Amino acid sequence: MSSSKGNAIFLIVFSCLYISNNLYLVCSIDPTTGFTNIPLTEANFEIQRPYDVPLEERYSYENGTRRLWVYADDKPHDPNSHTQPRTEVRIQGLDYSSGVWQFEGYGFVPNGTSGATIVQIHGASHGATTIILRIYDGDMRYYSSELVDTGLYDRWFRVNLIHDVDGGKVTVFIDGVQKFETHDQGPGDLYFKCGVYAAPKNISYYMESRWRDIKIYKKGRMIYPGEK
Ligand SMILES: *[C@@H]1O[C@H](CO)[C@@H](O)[C@H](O)[C@H]1NC(C)=O
Ligand SMILES: *[C@@H]1O[C@H](CO)[C@@H](O)[C@H](O)[C@H]1NC(C)=O
Ligand SMILES: *[C@@H]1O[C@H](CO)[C@@H](O)[C@H](O)[C@H]1NC(C)=O
Repeated sequence: MSSSKGNAIFLIVFSCLYISNNLYLVCSIDPTTGFTNIPLTEANFEIQRPYDVPLEERYSYENGTRRLWVYADDKPHDPNSHTQPRTEVRIQGLDYSSGVWQFEGYGFVPNGTSGATIVQIHGASHGATTIILRIYDGDMRYYSSELVDTGLYDRWFRVNLIHDVDGGKVTVFIDGVQKFETHDQGPGDLYFKCGVYAAPKNISYYMESRWRDIKIYKKGRMIYPGEK
């Protein structure tokens, strides 16, 4: 490969910004490089909402944007559940238990929503979830602890969440920049969710997030039936 071709590929894969005042090099890598986009239909989007209210009172889907909201005193999604209230997209039909999987979506959280999980990977061998990403006062946290990113109210941001089940690792990118990495909680029946799910503490009465361009990827080339 000639070096000019090599440089061109480097420039496509990495877009780097040199910030002189704090001497910090920010590189945004396309987190989906090497992954295959799995085509989705509406059947892949199951909506969970408080069991006693009609869908249109907690969810809308207009102009490509899904808007999901819930109130602190809402019922859980199932009469037999004792969990906190939620209105969430549950990615259906793409549960996984091995390999490397990725969720991508553009999220928007209005100022005022606090203590709500907006993205999660459900399932694990220890506990109910692999990762929970919550918004508290415009900041994103891993559960209620480590800070993942700040200043997320009232703007669209891209979330890429990569789960390497075989390597036991979860990585979070916001707007193409890696913000957080942690171990997972072991394999299980795993699936992605987004929307609003109330935390046990410090929740605002009204919780909302919006999502567009949700995509699911799997690492490597997919082998379709009939292909070698
Ligand atoms: C969707 O688009 C239509 C036409 O541009 C606009 O009138 C409407 O307000 C939009 N709805 C939302 C929820 O943005
Ligand atoms: C959210 O809204 C409140 C009340 O209007 C305002 O004081 C606060 O600065 C806003 N926060 C952000 C992060 O925009
Ligand atoms: C929840 O609120 C309490 C009391 O205001 C505070 O001490 C605690 O740090 C808050 N927790 C989070 C995760 O914001």
